[in-house]
Amino acid sequence: MLEFLETMQLLSARPVVESREAALRARIASFEAKFSRKPHLAVVLVGDDPPSVIYTTKKAQDAQRLGLAHSTHRFAATSSVQEVRAKIDLLNADPSVDGILIQRPLPAHFKERDLVRWVDPKKDVDAFHPELLGSLLLGFPSLISCTPLGVIHLLEHYKIPIAGRVACVVGRSAIVGKPMAILLQSRDATVIQAHSKTKDLPSVTRQADLLIVAVGKRALIRAEHVKPGAVVVDVGIHRDAAGKLSGDVDFESVSNVAGALTPVPGGVGPMTILTLLENTVFAAESSSR
Ligand SMILES: NC(=O)c1ccc[n+]([C@@H]2O[C@H](COP(=O)([O-])OP(=O)(O)OC[C@H]3O[C@@H](n4cnc5c(N)ncnc54)[C@H](OP(=O)(O)O)[C@@H]3O)[C@@H](O)[C@H]2O)c1
Repeated sequence: MLEFLETMQLLSARPVVESREAALRARIASFEAKFSRKPHLAVVLVGDDPPSVIYTTKKAQDAQRLGLAHSTHRFAATSSVQEVRAKIDLLNADPSVDGILIQRPLPAHFKERDLVRWVDPKKDVDAFHPELLGSLLLGFPSLISCTPLGVIHLLEHYKIPIAGRVACVVGRSAIVGKPMAILLQSRDATVIQAHSKTKDLPSVTRQADLLIVAVGKRALIRAEHVKPGAVVVDVGIHRDAAGKLSGDVDFESVSNVAGALTPVPGGVGPMTILTLLENTVFAAESSSR
């Protein structure tokens, strides 16, 4: 185990989070000094899906720890679409609320196609609104999806070059894969987007200097998928029966080939939560200008 750590760089979120949190605390303090209130993150939770309850609690704790105002608005799983929508409308109209997050997944009677338009794009800290994806595509400054932006901040912290390199993003979801590819392309990478219909995945991913994996399949990416020395970012999160977390990348085999690799846990996950809080502060600063 220790042998590969001598050659492979472990891209831990810890030092990135420490340094970015210090900067974020300073922004929050300066916002509060100027506007006599703290930036406020509101989270809407429908139902009692256990992981969602855990994630929502963690977001509340982190927000409060960093000095943000926070509120959680809980609804029973049987709540009507109209009832939850009415709360979002109130939060959209409330000038003391800067960021709004609807915790996914929601019960089946809520349709994602409708939900993505509910939160005002100025307050949509998850950046799922179609207008925000459009802004990202066009390169306009706006809120950007937390996980892909967190990955970029992680790469920047470790001074991993992006421009001119071949990047492969495995996965094309609207919340991770697609915005990830756009962000890499806007930083001058040559981007390959792979997905479930990609033929001969190992020969595609082996072209990449930078391999970002967001598929939701435990240990899908093994040594044979990785170009020697490549930087590999594992977005996937899986919890086994014993509660142990692992990713979409087979850490053991890939660590023998990759030049750098993110751990699970302790890699992309903490970057995503931090970016959510950074997005809340960005939203507060932008609306108060
Ligand atoms: N660390 C974090 O903070 C964080 C944040 C968000 C998500 N996640 C995790 O990241 C993973 C992906 O999330 P997501 O929301 O993007 O998932 P998703 O919406 O299910 O999308 C999965 C993507 O992977 C592709 N895919 C599935 N099987 C594949 C295969 N065998 N080969 C190549 N591509 C394949 C799918 O292709 P098609 O489009 O062809 O179906 C799809 O584009 C999950 O484990 C999730 O829990 C982690």
